[in-house]
Order: sequence, then structure tokens, then C-alpha cells
Amino acid sequence: MHITTYATAERAAQAAARLVLTRLAAQPALVLGLPTGNTPIPLYRALVRAHRQGRADFSRATTFNLDEFVGVGRGDAGSYRTFMTTHLFAQVNLPTRRAHVLDGCAPDWRAEVARYEALITRAGGLDLVILGIGRNGHLGFNEPAPTLHARSHRVTLRPDTRRANAALFDGRWRNVPTQALSMGIATILSAREVVLVATGASKARILARALLGPVTTRVPASLLQAHPNVSIVVDRDAAGNL
Ligand code: PGA
Repeated sequence: MHITTYATAERAAQAAARLVLTRLAAQPALVLGLPTGNTPIPLYRALVRAHRQGRADFSRATTFNLDEFVGVGRGDAGSYRTFMTTHLFAQVNLPTRRAHVLDGCAPDWRAEVARYEALITRAGGLDLVILGIGRNGHLGFNEPAPTLHARSHRVTLRPDTRRANAALFDGRWRNVPTQALSMGIATILSAREVVLVATGASKARILARALLGPVTTRVPASLLQAHPNVSIVVDRDAAGNL
């Protein structure tokens, strides 16, 4: 596991963007796993900037987002599909048909998660997954629990996770859906390369537990310790307890 600390969140985002751009240049048909949240916004900004400058071609890439709220449609303001359209998909030349996000409004969620897993398999698996980390240690929406789901599944969100997403729902955490669909932990860990981006002092405690503490499903991000190819990209604030 390589941990690299940068002076600011912006520098960390630029470093993560450079890594994505390097992999994309080497392998134009890259299969990427992508996160939502506040952390990746500057990373997506850097990728969009690179695309506008002719340094990033997404025309052959495929992306799979980590998660989506149940009951929130692709056009809804609070959906992660909308987040991705705003911050990345509409701003680069990634074909819409290869920009995959779980459908939180699918009538049969079991069929939806099975479809998603099949799509990832058909794409040849994830080459590179970019992750954020929840303050409770979640990866995607794999919340801390006595056991975790290996493959994509439906999950009940914890109140702290709903609070962290309140901004997407008029600042009201009670408006944040109680359920979500998430890529499974084994699907995430089957990526050939993993990059975890963490910025800000609010991540310092959980980052230290995840990277230095015991491997436990109570801190899902601690399972990254078992992955052979992980880079941790952090700013100084998030690295405070390492
Ligand atoms: P954040 O979310 O980037 O908004 O802190 C990270 C996460 O919950 O994975």
C-alpha cells in the first residue's frame, strides 16, 4: 500500500487525476469504478480540465459508479446519476451507454444488481476503482456491519451516512432515502488497482483506523489492507493520525 500525502485537497485531487490520466493514456478502453461525494469533485474538475485541453480521451472508456439511492430517478436532483452527469459525464467524451450507474428506480432491485454485476464481468472487470471513505469507514455504501455483502446489493443506510448526504436533498437529512444500491465489497476489491482519496481533518480518525487498525467489516475500508495494489492519496489534514 502506497500512501502519498499532499499539502492541500486540491493537490491530492490533481495527483489522483494524474494517475487516472496515465492509466487512460496507456489503456484507452479503461474500465473505471467511480465514487460520488465531496471528495472527488476537484478530481472530476481536473479530469474535465484535462479533457478540454486535449489530454484526456474517454471515448473508449467504461465507468461503473459505486452506488445509488433507492427511489431516486436518473433525472432527480439528488441522484448520484445526476451528480455524475453534472461533474463528469456531460463534460467529457465518455459515451453515455458506457457510463453505468445502478438504477435506484428499477422495479426489481435483485435483477438490477445482477444486471450490474454481469455488465462489470462482461466489461472484463474493473481496471481501476477510485474510492472515497465515509467517516464511518464505508466504501461505496458498504456500511460497517458484522458481515458484508460480497456482490452488489441493496443496503439500509445508517443515519450518519444520510446526514452526510443531506446537501443533495435540500439540506434535510430526513429527505435522504433510507435505502441504496451498492457495488459489493468483493466487486470493489476485485479491481486490479484501487485508489482511495481522503481529504480534510474529518477523515483523519477513520483513515488511521482503516489503514493501521485491524481488518474488520466494522471498518469496511480496512479490507483494503488485503488488496495487493492500493494507493492512498491524502491531504495533510486527512493524514493527521497516520
Ligand atoms: P465525501 O463522501 O467525499 O462526501 O466525504 C465519501 C464517502 O462517503 O465515501
